[in-house]
Amino acid sequence: MTTFYILTLFPEMVMDGLNTSIIGRAVKNEHLRIEAVNIRDYTMNKHGKVDDYPYGGGAGMVMQAQPIYDAYQSIVERIGHRPRTVYLTPKGSTFSQAKAREFALEEDLIFLCGHYEGVDERVLEEIVTDYMSIGDYVLTGGELPAMVMIDAISRMVPGVLSNEESGQTETFHNYLLEYPQYSRPEEWMGKKVPEVLLSGHHKNIEKWRLEQSIQLTRENRPDLYELYKRQEGK
Ligand code: ADE
Repeated sequence: MTTFYILTLFPEMVMDGLNTSIIGRAVKNEHLRIEAVNIRDYTMNKHGKVDDYPYGGGAGMVMQAQPIYDAYQSIVERIGHRPRTVYLTPKGSTFSQAKAREFALEEDLIFLCGHYEGVDERVLEEIVTDYMSIGDYVLTGGELPAMVMIDAISRMVPGVLSNEESGQTETFHNYLLEYPQYSRPEEWMGKKVPEVLLSGHHKNIEKWRLEQSIQLTRENRPDLYELYKRQEGK
């Protein structure tokens, strides 16, 4: 079973967010375990403080090393090894479907969610194995990025998706975006479902879907389209 440990100041936020829908079902079915560890529970400060002013001055507060390290150690001592530990930061390398597949091979993963202006560099050096960003924008904390990563990784853990939901034939699989989907009714607001999808002719349907995928990728993601062409030797 894959276990995600999340070091955070907002444990309810991540637990509430991850206990619904497919991920919630996977936790119930024991394909995944998700555990939030409240960094504040490990502070030695009698007021529960976990941050302080930055040396050298500057805006904002910095999360201190000690509570984070002790929260991390509480996990390591419990499980008996130091798992891959991800720090969520816009300075990290960009998360991707390939990375999701790679992380899904781990038994245990720790996510460290920062806040304020950052985290004391020394504890990062001590515990972090992977610096990951979810995109070129700045969020107020690492909780949403951790939830995004955990969702994407979980889908790649065997048993989490049913056969129908399986992650193998969809967007990013072979550098192509997924083709459009339609369901009943056959006509809605004057718009008809493409004829070929009603034909029952599987070869033609496959061909149409591939053409749609290629066109969509060329228009929306020229960067992916170039990778697709290279892969196809075109
Ligand atoms: N923390 C703040 N912004 C972030 C981002 N874009 N990715 C990962 N962690 C972050």
